[in-house]
This record gives sequence, C-alpha cells and structure tokens, in this order.
Amino acid sequence: MRIDILTVLPEMIDGLINCSILKRAQEKGLAQIYLHNLRDYTSNKWRRVDDYPFGGEAGMVMQIEPIDKAISALKSEREYDEVIYTSPDGKTFNQPMANTLSLTKNLIILCGHYKGIDYRIREHLITKEISIGDYVLTGGELAAAVMADAIVRLIPGVIGDEQSALSDSFQDNLLAPPVYTRPADYKGWKVPEVLLSGHQHKIDEWRLQQAQERTARLRPDLLEK
Ligand code: ADE
Repeated sequence: MRIDILTVLPEMIDGLINCSILKRAQEKGLAQIYLHNLRDYTSNKWRRVDDYPFGGEAGMVMQIEPIDKAISALKSEREYDEVIYTSPDGKTFNQPMANTLSLTKNLIILCGHYKGIDYRIREHLITKEISIGDYVLTGGELAAAVMADAIVRLIPGVIGDEQSALSDSFQDNLLAPPVYTRPADYKGWKVPEVLLSGHQHKIDEWRLQQAQERTARLRPDLLEK
C-alpha cells in the first residue's frame, strides 16, 4: 500500500517512518510512504502556506491553494481510497480503524497546523477526519506517524510472525497477556510455572484467563464493546 503525507514539517516525520519495522516494510516493497512538503506547492516567493483568518480572530490558518494543488497532483497519478485530515476534532483512531485502513491501497494524510485549515478544504477535499486522542498537539505530524505505524504493521508480511499482529492487545477487545523471557528466575522473581510446563493447551488457557483478568481490571470499557 501507499501513504502520501502532506505536511509543512516533513523532517518531523522522516525519522519515524524510516527506521525499524516501517523502514523494512518499505525496503521489502510492502509499503511506500512519501512525505510532501506543502511549501513546494505555494506560489508566493516566501513559500508561505498560511494567512490571517477572515473575521479577525487570533492565529493563522492554512490556505486552501497549496493543499488543493498537492492533493490534485497526487490524484492525477492514481486513485485514493481516503484523504485523511489529522485533527483533534476527528473520530478517535483505534484498532478497528487501523485494520480497515490497512486494507486500502492508496491513502493521503494531511497534517493540520496552526489554528486550523481553511474550512473549504474539509468540506471539499477531505474524506475522513481522525484524531489520535483527546488532547491537542502542536500539529498533525505525530498523529500521521502514529497512524502510518499502526496501519503498516498490519500489512501481511510486515511483521515476521503473522500470529503476532493477530494476538495484539485490542484485536479481540482484550489486552494482551503478560510475556516473559530468560532467566526464569531473576532475583527470586519467577516466571509463572505454567509457561515452563511445555503443556500448550494449559498455556493457551492461562493466556486467555490473564488477558480477560487484565482487561477487566485495567480497561473494563473494552469488555462492554
Ligand atoms: N492535531 C492536533 N492535535 C491532534 C490530535 N489529538 N489528533 C490528531 N491530530 C491532531
């Protein structure tokens, strides 16, 4: 799949999408993530992308022209499944949304900035508005990186062990059970006996019971879903 991210701060996202698993996914040809600097689509010599709001409120607003030009240039090359705008007003991002978006072919993510973007962009160019949580960031760049990470890791082949994406917390509305590795005894802090037993059926039962117990204790809201 392909993700095109439109931003005024590509350098803020670059390191996040070009290391570790996302880097490997791109090297393997399973995902392509492109960063586009909105300043490259301006037509003024200062490469400004914002202006004062009509009606005289405080703060600057991102202009429609560079954003429309950037989106149109991409759409002239291929069809896009969604044009997403990152905003605290949007629907809160969650695992089912990541699952759905990981099945798409081409996505555009527009990172919001300043006081907001000219509302006509949201009315005419955006198909989905997504927030990553009920708090306000300085811009949508971290939100775009979070979404790209959550989406790309679900593409088959990106994570080595196919089973591991399926057994994530949230995939079945349960938190993941605890995991342990060697040594089995560290300063007297012991790994649960059942995990060393070699009895797979009992281990699976223990994991499910732990997942249910942790979810009921830490995230009872998930069990109501
Ligand atoms: N931009 C600013 N805050 C944001 C948030 N919480 N989610 C997505 N984009 C944002």
